[in-house]
Amino acid sequence: MDDLRDKYISLISEAGDEATLEDLRVQAVGKKGEVSLKMRELGKMTPEERQEAGPKLNALKDEINSALAAKKAALADAALDERLKTEWLDVTLPGRPRRSGTIHPVSQVTEEVTAIFADMGFSVAEGPQIESDWHNFDALNIPGHHPARAEMDTFYMHRAEGDNRPPHVLRTHTSPVQIRSMELQGAPLRVICPGRVYRADFDQTHTPMFHQVEGLAVDTDISMANLKWCLEEFVKAFFEVDSVELRFRASHFPFTEPSAEVDIRCSWEGGTLKIGEGDDWMEILGSGMVHPKVLQAGNIDPDRWQGFAFGIGIDRLAMLKYGIPDLRAFFDSDLRWLRHYGFSSLDVPTLHGGLSR
Ligand code: PHE
Repeated sequence: MDDLRDKYISLISEAGDEATLEDLRVQAVGKKGEVSLKMRELGKMTPEERQEAGPKLNALKDEINSALAAKKAALADAALDERLKTEWLDVTLPGRPRRSGTIHPVSQVTEEVTAIFADMGFSVAEGPQIESDWHNFDALNIPGHHPARAEMDTFYMHRAEGDNRPPHVLRTHTSPVQIRSMELQGAPLRVICPGRVYRADFDQTHTPMFHQVEGLAVDTDISMANLKWCLEEFVKAFFEVDSVELRFRASHFPFTEPSAEVDIRCSWEGGTLKIGEGDDWMEILGSGMVHPKVLQAGNIDPDRWQGFAFGIGIDRLAMLKYGIPDLRAFFDSDLRWLRHYGFSSLDVPTLHGGLSR
């Protein structure tokens, strides 16, 4: 037993790696190891012999096991020391250039529009995308039977079984924010309200979710002439040109009277979209003088106050300005598209620094 002990303790202390240790473990205390075989011989001994040899063998087995464990820990420490000596990091090296994300054209255009209207004294207001049917329709003078409710291809939210209140809707336009702003701020008022809107519609220039920016100005002395001037100034500033050809078309919206839609001259030739030339027109906004009933719904006295309002399609502005021919690609999250049409996150659009570069 002493020989076995000396042999294994010295072999273990000389072992240079974990694999050698494992071999030694098998040789000594594995199922068919030398110590284990000795333990089997206990059966052939007399009870007296066994009483002496049994505890000694057990102690030997324990001793070898703890020598193995201690050596294993020592080897691991040594390996770590070795690694720490060779693996090191120079924290003064320059960082690796990483490809950074880009600003989506919709965000870019929203910022550009905001910068232009902020310069004209408009502040930004927001409203919920899941809107009450009252704010989206009734308050805007679109009663229950009105065809505009059907025309807008509305997405209705579910109500619980037995709940007969009118369902909420995904807002079909940003016009409900007119009502919310009037309720909240009263007159006089000058706000723009950018945000997402929803309609069940899908083709090259329509997606079920798209973006609008609403404008609303309420004061005691506001006319259609102010509206027209604002929109012309806006379009020139936005497209960064001295003049753009606009077409004001008489139109109808329940919430404005009179109403006008505005188109911009463009061409689609060869699959590319260009503004300011060609024989096509793209509708970019609806507008008009706020209907007295709408002022009333917003708790503003229509005998004292008047206002103009407009709703611009942000995505369409982006298509026109940046020559993006298909609206559907805006929301595909295709990285190649995003890299191609995206904007640097460091170039924030401002009127003094330039809207787009
Ligand atoms: N809400 C209208 C639409 O989505 C646009 C509009 C806004 C028209 C404000 C007039 C005044 O088509």
